[in-house]
Amino acid sequence: MKVDNFRLKLGEKEYVPIIIGGMGVNISTTELALAAERLGGIGHISDAENGYICDRIFNTSFVSSKRKRYAEFSDSPDKSRVKFDLGEVAEAQKMYVEHTVSKKSGKGAIFLNCMEKLTMNGAAETLKVRLRAAMDAGIDGITLAAGLNLRTLDLIQDHPRFRDVKLGIIISSVRALSIFLKRALKLERLPDYIIVEGPLAGGHLGFGPDDWKKFDLHTIFTEVLAFLKGEGLRIPVIPAGGIFTGTDAATYLSEGAGAVQVATRFTITKESGLPDNVKQEYLNAKEEDIVINMASTTGYPMRMLRHSPTLRYAIKPNCEGLGYLLENGGKCTYIDAYYKALSERKPGEPIRVEEKTCLCTGMAKYDCWTCGHTTYRLKETTNRLQDGSWQLPPAEAVFLDYQHSEDQSIRLPEPPAAG
Ligand SMILES: Cc1cc2nc3c(=O)[nH]c(=O)nc-3n(C[C@H](O)[C@H](O)[C@H](O)COP(=O)(O)O)c2cc1C
Repeated sequence: MKVDNFRLKLGEKEYVPIIIGGMGVNISTTELALAAERLGGIGHISDAENGYICDRIFNTSFVSSKRKRYAEFSDSPDKSRVKFDLGEVAEAQKMYVEHTVSKKSGKGAIFLNCMEKLTMNGAAETLKVRLRAAMDAGIDGITLAAGLNLRTLDLIQDHPRFRDVKLGIIISSVRALSIFLKRALKLERLPDYIIVEGPLAGGHLGFGPDDWKKFDLHTIFTEVLAFLKGEGLRIPVIPAGGIFTGTDAATYLSEGAGAVQVATRFTITKESGLPDNVKQEYLNAKEEDIVINMASTTGYPMRMLRHSPTLRYAIKPNCEGLGYLLENGGKCTYIDAYYKALSERKPGEPIRVEEKTCLCTGMAKYDCWTCGHTTYRLKETTNRLQDGSWQLPPAEAVFLDYQHSEDQSIRLPEPPAAG
């Protein structure tokens, strides 16, 4: 039994049922998403901090011009007036999506991971612009993630591509799904696919640091299948979180999954946006190095390597240039934690910010090493080189291993030529 015996049908199109999940900020790069697309699967890019990503790829200056505009607030805890220019948000989104979809060369698709918790000090208006600009720019599908907003579909219901773009949601419980579906049914626009993310995934989680072990993906997946059957709805269900081998994936497909969403195995590929030294950190991680904490300012638990540099940050909040996680009204729990630490600091001592981190900066600089639970197993998937470091496999090798491997085997990448 292998993944290649199955196909995902979305509308008229068929795909290899492997979806590379969105990994912000630019860990799931254009190149990584395109690798999946070329092989007939689906790759995600993420629009988290899209202005910052554009500056890196296209040499634009979205971040520096925003920083200049709001420089007067850099020493103030009040960021209520630090706003995104909606025209610039649209411009960056279009640039990034067009850049990616224009390079498609296979039979697969490029989807956008759109985290609704990216509140950008104007949650509804910035989300609306992000969604619409991505649709204008020709994205094949949008996966709504992190903080499902019941009004999201309303923001795009008058867009000409509302019924043609593929729309999916990520949920971690039947409860969240049923709430979303109520609104979707009212608009007669059901999601085209449902990603069920269990407690072993990377990034933000729908489970807490203390209770994640009480849940498992297989149980939630089965509950979602039963719920949809009970409602008479036929929507592909796509499990995600801890699916490490082709056999793990094929088992879900044989039980009725439409596809699987995977990410961790791709974090160490050549195409992943993480710097090479960070990829080696992932490869060297032990199980006890992987923790879930509440350092994210979103209020959601997040899984990361415990020696992530971002966990030691005491930097001044960076909202004037970034500010992607500012709540409406300009609030952020890191701003509160930073100014509290500043006021309590004893003369001559360094600032120590407890509990919260500046996630905008941490993600932008690849200092927040968020990862899936199975990261400690990545060393099973590649070769150790003579200098003691690990070979970074091409994404194609990982994708094809998922697609064709059987019996829990993992095919290692072709070792680099000697010399
Ligand atoms: C490094 C990393 C970053 C991630 N970032 C995001 C993200 O920005 N948005 C999101 O919805 N999911 C994110 N995820 C979750 C993945 O898209 C995916 O659903 C999940 O990790 C799949 O499980 P696996 O990593 O065990 O294969 C991230 C996962 C990883 C490993």
